[in-house]
Amino acid sequence: MRGTGSSRSLWMDTAPRPEATRVAPHPGEPAHPSDLDMDKGLAFAPYSLVDRDRPADVVVVGAGIAGLTTAYLLAREGRAVLVLDARDPAGGETARTTAHLSNAIDDRYSFLETQVGEEGARLAAESHTAAIEMIGRIAAQEDIACDYRRLDGWLFLAPGDDRHLLEEELAAAHRAGLTDVDLVEDFRLPANYAGPALRFPRQGQFDPMKYAAGLVRAIRALGGQVVAGQRVTSVEGGEEAIIHLADGHSLKAAACVVATNSPVIDTVAIHTKQAPYRTYVVALRVPRGSLEPALWWDTRDDYHYVRLQAAADEQGDDILIIGGEDHKTGEAQDHDQRFLRLEDWARRHFPMAAETVCRWSGQVMEPFDGLAFIGRDPANTANILIATGDSGMGMTHGTIAGMVLTDLLQGRANAWAGLYEPSRKPARNLREYLKENLDVAREYAFGGYRHEGGTDITSEAAIAPGGGGVLRIGGQPVAVFRAEDGSLTRVSAKCTHLGCTVHWNGLENSWDCPCHGSRFAPDGAVLAGPAVADLAPVDASGEPVGPPPEP
Ligand SMILES: Cc1cc2nc3c(=O)[nH]c(=O)nc-3n(C[C@H](O)[C@H](O)[C@H](O)COP(=O)(O)OP(=O)(O)OC[C@H]3O[C@@H](n4cnc5c(N)ncnc54)[C@H](O)[C@@H]3O)c2cc1C
Ligand code: FES
Repeated sequence: MRGTGSSRSLWMDTAPRPEATRVAPHPGEPAHPSDLDMDKGLAFAPYSLVDRDRPADVVVVGAGIAGLTTAYLLAREGRAVLVLDARDPAGGETARTTAHLSNAIDDRYSFLETQVGEEGARLAAESHTAAIEMIGRIAAQEDIACDYRRLDGWLFLAPGDDRHLLEEELAAAHRAGLTDVDLVEDFRLPANYAGPALRFPRQGQFDPMKYAAGLVRAIRALGGQVVAGQRVTSVEGGEEAIIHLADGHSLKAAACVVATNSPVIDTVAIHTKQAPYRTYVVALRVPRGSLEPALWWDTRDDYHYVRLQAAADEQGDDILIIGGEDHKTGEAQDHDQRFLRLEDWARRHFPMAAETVCRWSGQVMEPFDGLAFIGRDPANTANILIATGDSGMGMTHGTIAGMVLTDLLQGRANAWAGLYEPSRKPARNLREYLKENLDVAREYAFGGYRHEGGTDITSEAAIAPGGGGVLRIGGQPVAVFRAEDGSLTRVSAKCTHLGCTVHWNGLENSWDCPCHGSRFAPDGAVLAGPAVADLAPVDASGEPVGPPPEP
């Protein structure tokens, strides 16, 4: 699978890759759209790109859990759906998740109440609970063997935290309607924790790639289509939605759902209300059956999240998966130390843990109030919908997106739509909201403000083979990558979304933008939005090479 970074998650290598069409060829036509004999732009007949006999009326952009669930639920109601992904289906953050299915809200109910009130917190609990159940139902109905199971989740205290915190959260969870959550006094981890913990019953877990592969299969069986390698560059709303592709072609549809994790169609609207964070995961072997499966979270601010993946066969070991060590995108280079700290934490609390089998990282978008943005795109017309702001709960938020967006597109009322309304404003968490935006403003003003002169190195000689760095050439920040053979690739370090300076991510071998989370390959090719254009190539004196990036 072509991913969005160098590290590989446990699922990328163990689960079947969701197979997508690279454009379903019409009899007698070549397999790739750019080879087809057709007009460019809006004159292009709608949907003939994929299959003229089955025109789509809803185009879903992005084949992660949010896009695939939406497409599946719409297809089940008879809508003709076409899913387009710039890369392979489920190759984005869905491939990098740890796939806890939880209604425990990672920002906690006591915080959520301060943002959306008691009724809002109740709706959040109801929707996440429904999402856990919906995933189980879809897996059963579509016969998707994705290791889905229900199990307890435990929230326990991080060192220095007081039981008062758990008592507050228990009361808030009960007010939100989760009356079966209880406080257990003598909870124990295998080592280094004995004390109180909150038990959230009937949480869930699954293998996200097996599930995504099953969704793709089910969408197809319902007459929908999933197409890989189609980057969408913009979408116009109006009577019809017009979807522009990177290869210059366009499609029309009655409606368009943009589920690209971070919307690629908004310049500003949504992006001031969420911030990108990197998060790290290690997977360690533990003897089969040595731990009772559960989900575990501590109360640390960048909390540890832990689960077990059962052995694949009778001879194999179980795998303990631990995540955490988050930081704002672009703000850290100490990836190895973060992995080591996770492994150390894992071995102190789970002494049966043996060698590490896998380490990876990924990105989450943190919304200002802890809830996703799902619904009509505030910067567009009614037939353009978005799902973003996944937080560390994107498996359930993505599934809620499927349910809410399907109702909206089917003209039905949805009880949760108001809670997740993308146009909502940060009425109460203003301080955090202003701080995140101040960070962004600093990035614009100083271009990597933590470094003198807005760069992180002063000469290309400082870049080791396989590494990258930003330096100022000809007055411009330039992102320089040195390949293993010593050759250099230079691109403008100005992110093509809104111009913040990108930072080198030496773990994933990518240029990451700290402002809104766009990511680019070493040669500047866009990996993840909101940017849709590549970083512009420049020469040794910092001058642009060739035409400016499209669009
Ligand atoms: C390490 C880690 C652990 C996590 N753990 C959990 C957890 O335990 N539980 C939980 O609920 N959540 C968790 N999350 C969050 C969850 O994984 C994500 O929120 C979720 O996978 C996001 O799904 P998505 O569909 O929104 O985005 P993605 O899966 O990223 O899908 C977006 C798709 O859009 C495509 N795309 C992007 N731009 C374009 C374009 N211009 N044109 C066409 N296609 C485009 C991409 O190629 C991609 O396939 C975790 C995340 C990480 C990184
Ligand atoms: S992602 Fe917005 S400026 Fe880079």
